[in-house]
Amino acid sequence: MTTKRGATIIGWGKALPSKIVTNGDLERIVDTSDEWITTRTGIKERRVASPEQAASDLALDAAQAALKRANINAEELDLIIVATVTPDMAFPATACLLQHRLGAQNASAFDLEAGCSGFLYGLTIGCQFVQNGTYNHVLIVGVDILSRITNWQDRNTCVLFGDGAAAVILGPCESGQGILSTYLGSDGSGGSHLYLPAGGSRRPLDQLALEQGLQYIHMNGPEVFKFAVRIMGEAAAEVLKRADLKLEDVTYLIPHQANQRIIDAAARRLHLPTERVLVNLDRYGNMSSASIPVALAEAADDGRFQPGDVLVLVGFGAGLTWGAAVLKWDQV
Ligand code: UT7
Repeated sequence: MTTKRGATIIGWGKALPSKIVTNGDLERIVDTSDEWITTRTGIKERRVASPEQAASDLALDAAQAALKRANINAEELDLIIVATVTPDMAFPATACLLQHRLGAQNASAFDLEAGCSGFLYGLTIGCQFVQNGTYNHVLIVGVDILSRITNWQDRNTCVLFGDGAAAVILGPCESGQGILSTYLGSDGSGGSHLYLPAGGSRRPLDQLALEQGLQYIHMNGPEVFKFAVRIMGEAAAEVLKRADLKLEDVTYLIPHQANQRIIDAAARRLHLPTERVLVNLDRYGNMSSASIPVALAEAADDGRFQPGDVLVLVGFGAGLTWGAAVLKWDQV
């Protein structure tokens, strides 16, 4: 892929609710155990938003941190993309609410829904605009407040999810630097494996839907698991091929954080040792579109990346969807 100029991450930030819910707390709500959750998923605790915290609140904190790190003003943003399945409301877009609260009056703004792959879809779209010269600064936020669509009586799902947000800002760089390749895919035939039945035009939220719990996440865990293990390996291999790189070139894999067993299986398929795989699901659970950017922002803040490091981001989610990106880190 030859472009006139490149696109790179010039700023990043994250925002996590302060409330921690441990596996022990969940033992008191549903028939589960710390032992089951830890061995089957790797999750120990997760963050849960306070009742007054909505997606745009976490997005605002993450975006402001990213602007500060990028050392630019909100007016310099040309485009805002918010990837989420839990927007403040169906419309207007959470990205527009965020645009207003940031004072980013020169930015266009839209929401993007690609399940847990949303951040990678947003990164790919933002990258095109920067590479082709249409825009100089694109803000991409991955935010989800899954606690609002979680059935806290369903042990199959309530132990898995957490709330959080993270943002990156893309800016121009030399061609061949920054984001080296991206890869997106979807398979709508798997839509029924992970979905929210009610609240849309197919099944508006009425009393019966509420009584049947159709306002909550419905998931076929084992089917999503099988798909995830296969697609993580395939997508990482494909995106590396597109960047003309090999597995040996990878400094860190930043996978979607859904289950430690999925991450381990993908790492095994890619022959990557565990120290080259970034994991935070033990502390945050699965934060959907926020999982990958939170892991990225955290590692960047901790100074784990050196200029020249090759990062592979890879994720999967409802849709079914998947996405991957290779980037060469160039921040000091
Ligand atoms: O971002 C994408 C979103 N989702 C995912 O990536 C999820 C992918 N799937 C998974 O991570 C796993 O399939 C789960 C963690 C959801 C489930 O693990 P599993 O090893 O596939 O378990 P299972 O669904 O086959 O259930 C095994 C047993 C069942 O009991 P029986 O029927 O064998 O008696 C479940 O009822 O484990 C039981 N179980 C639990 N037990 C204690 C399910 N959830 C729990 C729980 N505590 N929280």
